[in-house]
Amino acid sequence: MSKWTIGVIGGSGLYEIDGLEGAEAFSIDTPWGAPSDPLMRGRIGDVTLVFLPRHGKGHRLTPTAVPYRANIDALKRAGCTDVLSISACGSLKQAYAPGDYVMVDQFIDRTFAREKSFFGPGMVAHVSMADPVCSRLSGLAGDAAERVGATVHRGGTYIAMEGPQFSSRAESNLYRQWGCDVIGMTNMPEAKLAREAELPYATIAMVTDYDCWFDEVEAVSVSNVLEVMRQNTERAKQAILELASGLNGVERSPSPQGIETCLDFAMITAPE
Ligand code: ADE
Repeated sequence: MSKWTIGVIGGSGLYEIDGLEGAEAFSIDTPWGAPSDPLMRGRIGDVTLVFLPRHGKGHRLTPTAVPYRANIDALKRAGCTDVLSISACGSLKQAYAPGDYVMVDQFIDRTFAREKSFFGPGMVAHVSMADPVCSRLSGLAGDAAERVGATVHRGGTYIAMEGPQFSSRAESNLYRQWGCDVIGMTNMPEAKLAREAELPYATIAMVTDYDCWFDEVEAVSVSNVLEVMRQNTERAKQAILELASGLNGVERSPSPQGIETCLDFAMITAPE
């Protein structure tokens, strides 16, 4: 029987997870360097979770400095079948309030100072990013988050900005006009690399603020992000454990979107 091994990338405010059976920390080195931190593996029944704090413990890595390639490669080498990202984000839509969870289904990548591919000179591949999120994993994670009491919005476009500064009001309004729903600094190139690694990827975007477009509330700052995260981290941990318990004893079939075989059709370099 095929089992689930879910890699969880914890964002701002989520640096560890407890309550797992047989929890052990371990390190992995990759051709892309070291991941953000040692990983932690543990189980809920027959479901394995592999946890990695994106910014490292103590939040030492800027969004630009996160070793995205090493992180995804380390999760792949650790045997992950799926990757769930938990990320703080700003809301660009009044209906998505601080404290809510958005199950993102599209991305716009405005980052520009990061390595975005495992492929390069000599080995060229183009994977499809038309549907960047695994709808099955996203649905399961959204259901688990609802079961632990979160307000969950299904679907949303996440715009990834370089940072580390937050947006200007003009930028925030522009992204709203583009139809973006939430804004963050880390899900790209993470989602692209997960696809290149043939790993089904989904995001729980936890709204911490209204960025700076909404005149009725204070513009985003580290203090309001941390305050909402402080109130929400426990629920995010519960949602992860709930996701794993819900999959305990459930056989894992390949992703209906064919993500695990997407490289079969992506290589353009002629074989030697
Ligand atoms: N992370 C949390 N809130 C954010 C915002 N408003 N912009 C970018 N990244 C964020």
